[in-house]
Amino acid sequence: MYSPRFSKQSQALHSADADVWAVSDRAHALADKGEDVIFLCVGDPNFDTPEPILDFARARLGVGRTHYSPAAGEAMLRRAIADIESKVSPHPCSPDDVVVFPGGTNAIFAVLSCLLNPGEQIVIPEPMYIGYVPITDALQLDVKKVACTAEQGFAFDTESIKQAITAETRVVMINTPVNPTGAMATPEQLRELAAYCRERDIWLISDEMYSMITFARRHTSLRTAAEHLDNVIVIDGLSKSHAMSGWRLGWAVAQGELVDRLVEFAGATIFGVPQFIQEAAAFALEFDTYFVKQMRDAYEKRRDLIVERIGRIPGLSCSSPEAGMFVMVDVSSVAENGEAFADALLDAELVSVLPGKPFGPSAVNHVRLTLAAEESELSRALDRIERFVTGGCLKAG
Ligand SMILES: Cc1ncc(COP(=O)(O)O)c(C=O)c1O
Repeated sequence: MYSPRFSKQSQALHSADADVWAVSDRAHALADKGEDVIFLCVGDPNFDTPEPILDFARARLGVGRTHYSPAAGEAMLRRAIADIESKVSPHPCSPDDVVVFPGGTNAIFAVLSCLLNPGEQIVIPEPMYIGYVPITDALQLDVKKVACTAEQGFAFDTESIKQAITAETRVVMINTPVNPTGAMATPEQLRELAAYCRERDIWLISDEMYSMITFARRHTSLRTAAEHLDNVIVIDGLSKSHAMSGWRLGWAVAQGELVDRLVEFAGATIFGVPQFIQEAAAFALEFDTYFVKQMRDAYEKRRDLIVERIGRIPGLSCSSPEAGMFVMVDVSSVAENGEAFADALLDAELVSVLPGKPFGPSAVNHVRLTLAAEESELSRALDRIERFVTGGCLKAG
């Protein structure tokens, strides 16, 4: 009998922790049976892609922009991205510094693939985006997590990152604003970290996927803050800011030889993002600040609604995130941990939230609520959460 053999990379992905979406999978199964489940677990914008972007894409499809495109990306999109990256930065960004990928995930995979061998060390602050785990698993990296603790409000912690760096560290990857906590690094922290890494020949990657969804203050890119750019890589994309998650459009901005390496990698693996999508993306970046602001304002109102309602539920607490699409709720006074809370909440009230554990040890006592739901839906969910908690729920767990 034929017994299939697979690569170590595939094996690492295959044996990865399947528990991450356990509560959400159960919620979907309940919804399939006709139960009235409210989903507050995903980070997919609940807005449609703005109509002008759709129109533009349709028009470009209509003129036959459906062929191969350059591995680095179409010139017009690389220019539009370079303009965005240059806007408030002291360092001008050239279109030659930009490489286009089908989504942020692919950009991160490509960058890490170009920088690290299996077994080599990458330092990543946690709580961190769940999607990093399969990437670092597949590449068999030695991930050293740095805690940004709940006690410190999950604040970005340059000192702890610096302390975690050793002679073995090849790459530090940060995320600002952070999914799931909404924390943002300050320009000073970014500048300091970039210099610290550069002195030690360490790459510093900044995932800035939520750069356009900030509330209290503007996002500062690592490219803007860093004094020198030769060890600095910025990743961003349109999935969140423009409600274009399904279009799969992201990018990496780098310098010098790394750009050539990334283009080679993109050529070997994806061979160009669809032309009409790249043109619509360039259009979106150039002309769509109005819609981006509208969506951001809606997220802000939803954040305020959640923070206000959670603050009135005895036993629950949360701080108000500065950015992003999520609110982290501390459930430690009413449940054994976030997982127990999420499980019991789904059973009792049919609300699906994400336990904090998969984001990292610092988030075990939290659950993540998404802002990607209408205010009316959020209110309905919060009524149920309130009833669940005030009804006694499950501390003994
Ligand atoms: C912090 C962070 N980085 C990267 C990604 C991946 O982005 P994309 O959907 O463009 O692959 C996400 C998506 O949720 C994210 O939250």
